[in-house]
Amino acid sequence: MFDKIRSEFPVFEKHPELIFLDTAASAQKPKSVIESINNCYSYKYANIHRGIYKLSTNLTDEFENVRSKTSKYINAESADNIVFTKSATEAINLVASCFSEKFLGKGDEVLLSYLEHHANIVPWQIAAEKKGFKIVVINISKEGKLDYDDMINKINSKTKLISITQMSNVIGTTVDMQRVKENAKKLNIPFLIDGCQYIAHATVDVSNLDCDFYVYSGHKLYGPSGVGVLYMKSQWFELFNPYQGGGSMIENVDFAKTTFATGYHKFEAGTPPIAQVIGLGASYDFISRFKLKEVFDYEKDLYEYAVEKLKFLNDVKIIGHSNDKGAILSFTIDNIHPNDIGMILDQFNVAIRTGHHCAQPLLKKLNLNATARASFGIYNTKDDVDKFIDAIKETKKFFK
Ligand SMILES: Cc1ncc(COP(=O)(O)O)c(C=O)c1O
Repeated sequence: MFDKIRSEFPVFEKHPELIFLDTAASAQKPKSVIESINNCYSYKYANIHRGIYKLSTNLTDEFENVRSKTSKYINAESADNIVFTKSATEAINLVASCFSEKFLGKGDEVLLSYLEHHANIVPWQIAAEKKGFKIVVINISKEGKLDYDDMINKINSKTKLISITQMSNVIGTTVDMQRVKENAKKLNIPFLIDGCQYIAHATVDVSNLDCDFYVYSGHKLYGPSGVGVLYMKSQWFELFNPYQGGGSMIENVDFAKTTFATGYHKFEAGTPPIAQVIGLGASYDFISRFKLKEVFDYEKDLYEYAVEKLKFLNDVKIIGHSNDKGAILSFTIDNIHPNDIGMILDQFNVAIRTGHHCAQPLLKKLNLNATARASFGIYNTKDDVDKFIDAIKETKKFFK
């Protein structure tokens, strides 16, 4: 049912030979998203929130409409719970900085897991340096599944926040957020979900997840780079001090004393990523044409199809065997460095990611320095997988 989607992505018109298997890094963009950004800059552009002329007020309305679309897409209480940032990374930095400033100190603990991307590790480390709290890390099993017993053991009265990915960008493990929620709620511990890898492949319902914070980047959702989403429960808007200062986030500025705007304005200093937010709106329209359960199953089928074929190739090792995986396939080939795999695959127009995938602690835990990673999106097909497998066979031949 997704066989016609590919034609909506101009990159495949220009490069019909391209086998793009790097959606986990950043998804390709459909025409509708590109056109919405083009139209914004060509015909609708002005700065927003400040102008009293039509061009500005119209674009302000359109921009704010994307905030509403965002809240509906993730089933938030209201558009007022959505802060636009420049990326998921910035969103996590915002929470780490604002939360730690007020609520963390010596003797406190923040619980992360071995599955995390650097974006959900380093901001906490920077905050921990300043405030003296401890970072505690939830273990994973040898299959790469989150160790829920270890999580339960590590949650205690010192735990002040839990911050966990919903899906690993390296091995595709998904995390059962209902279990995280159940255990966090017992001690009233706020929790953050990093939804970067999950958001484009499955339904997200923050009301049901009952999380305090949910973050993702537009570019993983077939939208533009330069925009991130931070969902926050209402109470944090008042409890947090501003993250950055500047225009738009103020109520009144005076050298004697400045007062701040309330709600999301307080956390959106400066001119926001206007065209990027408009493009993000188009990406919701694009993805909402599909049932996300079908998207997940379709991509998982491609993953299973690839795994079945790789099983017959000697020396290929698939990394991560958790039974709750999404469509992310990390692998190694004995005696061939992942970067070399990537370079040879590129000769066959197969684009994959190689390296540590911004998750060095996870790789170390798996006794690896690097992997090759193929990740699937809505535009991939079984034919892509066949060509990927052929290219792997050629790589093996080349290095023999
Ligand atoms: C799981 C996860 N978290 C966070 C990020 C950071 O996203 P960004 O670089 O768009 O801020 C990524 C990006 O790959 C990711 O995969």
